[in-house]
Order: sequence, then C-alpha cells, then structure tokens
Amino acid sequence: TRPPLVDSFGRTHTSLRLSVTDRCNIRCFYCMPAEGVRFLPRSEILSFEEITRLVRVVVPLGVTRIRLTGGEPLVRAELPKLMAMLREIDGLADLALTTNGMLLGEQAEPLKRAGLDRLNISLDTLDAAKFERMTRRQGLQQVLTGIDAAQQAGFESIRLNALAIRGETEDEVVPLVEFARSRGLVMRFIEFMPLDADGAWQHDRVLTGEAIRGMLERELGPLEPAERTDTSQPAMDYVFADGSGTVGFINPVSEPFCGACDRLRLTAEGQVRNCLFSTTESDARSLLRSGADDAAIEQLVRDCVAAKKPGHGIDDQTFLRPRRAMYQIGG
Ligand code: GTP
Ligand code: 5AD
Ligand code: SF4
Repeated sequence: TRPPLVDSFGRTHTSLRLSVTDRCNIRCFYCMPAEGVRFLPRSEILSFEEITRLVRVVVPLGVTRIRLTGGEPLVRAELPKLMAMLREIDGLADLALTTNGMLLGEQAEPLKRAGLDRLNISLDTLDAAKFERMTRRQGLQQVLTGIDAAQQAGFESIRLNALAIRGETEDEVVPLVEFARSRGLVMRFIEFMPLDADGAWQHDRVLTGEAIRGMLERELGPLEPAERTDTSQPAMDYVFADGSGTVGFINPVSEPFCGACDRLRLTAEGQVRNCLFSTTESDARSLLRSGADDAAIEQLVRDCVAAKKPGHGIDDQTFLRPRRAMYQIGG
C-alpha cells in the first residue's frame, strides 16, 4: 500500500466529496445568485469515466468514503450509473449523497439499487411560502414526497439538513425537529457560511448551533451530547434525554472543526480543492485529458493536500472569500 494523504498539520484525508454538476433545479438564496446563473458547458464537466479514474487513483491512498454533491447531483443524467461504477472499486467503504430532495420521488429506489449507502436531504422549512421565498421556486411538497420515497426505499441512514440563518429560520427550528423525530430521522442545523453567490453573508446573520440548542431545550426538553464515534464528522450530535430523537449541529463558524478535517473535494469541472474555502485549485482535468499517467494524478492530489491551510480563517482580518459559491463547490 501507498503512503496516506497527510497534510502538513497531520490531518489524514479519507473522504472525497465529488461534485457531479453545478446545475440545480432550485435557487436557494444562501447559495445561488438571484439572477443570471451561467452553468458550465457539458464539455467542461468531467465524464463518469474521468471521475472514476481519479477515484481509482485516490482510493489506494486511503480515501475510503465518497459523497456525491452538486449543484444538485440528481439533475446529472444517469447518476445511478456513476454510482454503480464507483461501487465496483475495491476499498470504497461508504458511498453517500447530499441532495435537495426534489427528484428523490423518482430516484430514491434506483439509487438504493445502485448501491448508495447514505443520504442527506436538505430541508430548511416546512412552510410552503417560506420554501418558495428561500429557494425562489415551488417544491416543498415535492421534497416531502422525496423524503417519503427515500424512507420507503429502505436507506439505513437519512439525515435532514437545514441551513440556519438569523432573522430568517428561527421559527423553523422546532417544527423541523418535531417532523424529523416523528419519522425517526436525524435533523441537523448548519451555520450559514460566506459561500453564497450574492455575497450577502454577514457574521451577524449566523444563527449559531448553541442558540438553536437553547431554543430546542426550552421548547422540547433537555438535550445530551451523543457518544461521538466519528471524530472527523462536522456534526456534533445531541440526543433528547427522553430518548425521542437526535439533533446534529454543524457549527463551522462558531466552532470550527478544521482541526479534524479529513475532506478533499473535486469540482464538477475537475478541480481538486483541499478546503471549501481554498482560493486555489489543482487542475486534475487537464491531466485526465492529456493522457497523464496515474502517478501524475496522484502527485497532483498529494501536492494539493500538502498545501492545505490549518483552517478556513473566516474570522481573520485577511479572510478572502473563495471565487466560487457553494453550488460550484458542492458543500
Ligand atoms: P456525514 O457526516 O457523512 O453525514 O456528512 P456531512 O455532514 O459531511 O455531509 P453534508 O453534505 O450533509 O454536509 C452538510 C453541510 O455541512 C455541508 O453542506 C456544509 O455546509 C457543511 N460541511 C460539510 N463538510 C464541511 C467542511 O469540511 N467544512 C465546512 N466548513 N463545512 C462543511
Ligand atoms: N453556508 C452553509 N451551508 C450552505 N449550503 C449551501 N450554501 C451554504 C452556505 N452559504 C448547504 C446546504 C446544503 C448543502 C448542499 O450545502 O444547506 O445542505
Ligand atoms: Fe476542512 Fe476547510 Fe471545512 Fe475547515 S473549512 S473543515 S479545513 S474543508
């Protein structure tokens, strides 16, 4: 076996988040621009063969977990086919997907059959008018149908993700948790990060995990920290003391978890990123399309890992937002 992907701060990289498209069927204000989205032309997007080739290079370096993201991954044609191609790779322990849920009604079942292990579904509100304001599209009912389909397809792990934004989503917190736990699902809240296309993020719009936990305890009863099995996962899970469910908090702004980061990213157009917030990328696509051998691709990934910074630096004086917004990175 080959040496693992360890960065200069001692963090070993075992997880790869693959963005399969920058397109999306909704327009969440905290991610996409209000107007004029220019999506990548097809020729710039990696083919399934190119994606699989890169994955085959990094799996022997210790990458055992893959998460497919977007844009919205389910708008990429024939996604179950990619899934099946990935499933054939020896050494991949975990195949997961993050989706907005809009297309799960049709696709939950085929995805399950293609070998998808775990599913995270974004759900910011249970109020149809608010959904429409936040996503600039209609579709709450469609997402709820998608969640039903996912549960019926028999996924063992389904997590619901809600973006938390001060002045916007406070009223959603309790209903979302009640909805999730009534269905035996984990509800998770994610702090708003400066990755929105419109550049509207401000520190005071962050609704912290701690604030949400306080709201939940006042309304629904005490929460206790859950036993932590995977120390590199972004979420801190809590369980209701009465055993009625689990809530997770992803607090990248108020409690950065960069020190335990094990994640690499590949954008839809084939750029390797060592951080959501990195301002540089490593161009794997050029190598993939110029007949480079596996050793060259491996070296590109190693160099990318070696250049990783200790953290996102959101609170630093010198912080620079990445050129890309969330839909172009994949979350
Ligand atoms: P599991 O732990 O396997 O469920 O995956 P996950 O929580 O990493 O996946 P998911 O895509 O659901 O992540 C939810 C959100 O957490 C993302 O959309 C990001 O907003 C945030 N997040 C995930 N990974 C990172 C990370 O490495 N850094 C930061 N700052 N935020 C992250
Ligand atoms: N800050 C934090 N999370 C974000 N997401 C999208 N934009 C942002 C942002 N600005 C999350 C969504 C979804 C995932 C794909 O990315 O909530 O769960
Ligand atoms: Fe890792 Fe960057 Fe996320 Fe920090 S912000 S956890 S370094 S990807």
